[in-house]
Amino acid sequence: MKIVLATRNPGKIAELRRILSGFDIVGLEEFPDIEDVVETGVTFEENALLKAHAVAQAAGLPAVADDSGLCVDVLNGMPGVFSARWAGRHGDDRGNLELLLAQVSDVPERHLGAHFTCCAALALPDGGQRTVEGILPGRLIREPRGTNGFGYDPIFVPEGDSRTTAELTAGEKDAISHRGRAFRALAPIVRELLS
Ligand code: IMP
Repeated sequence: MKIVLATRNPGKIAELRRILSGFDIVGLEEFPDIEDVVETGVTFEENALLKAHAVAQAAGLPAVADDSGLCVDVLNGMPGVFSARWAGRHGDDRGNLELLLAQVSDVPERHLGAHFTCCAALALPDGGQRTVEGILPGRLIREPRGTNGFGYDPIFVPEGDSRTTAELTAGEKDAISHRGRAFRALAPIVRELLS
């Protein structure tokens, strides 16, 4: 059974393929005519569903989409759904990280709790849908460390570790990450609905 993952990110496609073995996971590169969906939602779930339904309708196949971000306690959960465009330009990872560090520069360390959240959505061409959420709790540090990963990884230390998620290998991060957790929670639902 073919499932479209609503992304052009090869890393995400590979991760979902590892978790959903037995299914033929393809990315949006197989559907060049499907346009990118504008993320107009104000929650991770809304955005994940927007993307999954748009692709399920356009491709006529079951579609999985995810939406994720960093939620900082002292900022009332921001950057949240605005994580990718926090500094004003979509995908400016360095600018986003620097703005966030500037915003919390006077906040005592003990108040730097944060978590990554990922909502994964499955949408079917008949309009059916399911969503699940994965969370990675941790805290922010002020001095970026590590070169793996992307986005806010160099300033995020997961609970129970002293390394940032940018200092973990891809496998170590997959095992604990919000996205890994959400995709693993979605897997039995996909199998139940589509097998
Ligand atoms: P998206 O869900 O791929 O659109 O990601 C949204 C944004 O959240 C990214 O651009 C990053 O800024 C941030 N983000 C989501 N997941 C991670 C992660 O695993 N590490 C670092 N940043 C992340």
